[in-house]
Amino acid sequence: MQNPPTTVVVLGTGGTIAGTAGHALDNVGYTAGQVAVAQLVAAVPSLQAIEAEQVAQLDSKDMTHAAWRELAARCAHHLGRRDVAGVVVTHGTDTLEETAWFLHRVLAPAKPLVLTGAMRPATALQSDGPQNLFDAVTVARTPGARGVLGVLGGQVHGARELRKTHPYRIDAFDSGDAGPIAWVEEGRLRRIRDWPAGDPIGVERLPADAGAWPVVEIVTSHAGARAATVLALCDAGARGLVIAGTGNGTLHAELEQALLQAQARGVRVLRSTRTRAGRVVAADGDRWAAADDLTPEKARVELMLTLL
Ligand code: SIN
Repeated sequence: MQNPPTTVVVLGTGGTIAGTAGHALDNVGYTAGQVAVAQLVAAVPSLQAIEAEQVAQLDSKDMTHAAWRELAARCAHHLGRRDVAGVVVTHGTDTLEETAWFLHRVLAPAKPLVLTGAMRPATALQSDGPQNLFDAVTVARTPGARGVLGVLGGQVHGARELRKTHPYRIDAFDSGDAGPIAWVEEGRLRRIRDWPAGDPIGVERLPADAGAWPVVEIVTSHAGARAATVLALCDAGARGLVIAGTGNGTLHAELEQALLQAQARGVRVLRSTRTRAGRVVAADGDRWAAADDLTPEKARVELMLTLL
C-alpha cells in the first residue's frame, strides 16, 4: 500500500500575517504584505515537509480577479500532485472569506485547501500568525480532510459559513448559526461537522483576461436609497447586481423600481441580507432570487461565476 502524502504547499498572498510595523506595540499602523511566505514558514518551529511559494504580496482589501485566477491555478496545480496532502494559503483577513468562497466554487477540492491569516502583524508582541499557520498546516495534513477551509483562532470554518465579524480582536472569525467544523487543539483536530463538498466550476472556465469577467456590483438598501445608484451601475456595464437588503432581504421602494428597469435591460439580480448573521428566508412569489446564507460579498462571487 502507498504511504499517504505528507507534503504541504504554503502559498503566500500577503496580508497582516505578512505585515510589519515600526514597533512591536503597533497593531494598526503597520503595512500588510511585507514578509515573504518562506520567512513566515521558517518562523514556525517544527514545521516539516513544507514547500513555500509566493503567489502575490498584497493587502487583501486590494484583491483583484487576476490574482484570484492565478491563485486558483496554483492551488489546482499543487492539489493535483500525488505527493501533496493539502495546500495552505496565507491571506489578509479582510477579504479572506470572499477568496475562500471563490476557491470553493472554482475548485471544491477533494483535498484540504486551507486559508489562514492573522489579526496582528508579524512584528507584533501578540502575533497570532505563527500559531494560525501551524494550525492550518495541521488541518492540511489531516487524512480525510477536504474542501476549502478557513483556519484562524484555533477554529476550522467552512468556506460557505466563514465570516470576519470583528475589525480588531484576535478572535475575529466565526461560522454564524452553523458553528465551526472543528477545533485545532495542541496540533490535534476535534471535528464536529462534515467537511464541505461541492461541484467545481474549474479554473479553465475563468477567462484569462480578468477584464472579461462579468461586472457584478453590490447595492445596499438603506434609508434614503436612490434609484440613480442602480441606474448608474447599469450604465457602467454591470451585468449583475447583488442587493444587500434590509432584514430578510427587503428593498427600499426606490431601489425596487430601479431594479425592475435594470432587469428589463437584462441585468441579473440576487437578493441577500445586510444583517450580520442568518439567511434570507425565501417565500412563494418572491420577485428576486435569494442568496440563502451567502453574505453580499460571497453572493457577488456567486452571481459573477454564474454569469460566466
Ligand atoms: C489584509 O486583509 O490584507 C489586511 C488586514 C488583515 O490581514 O487582517
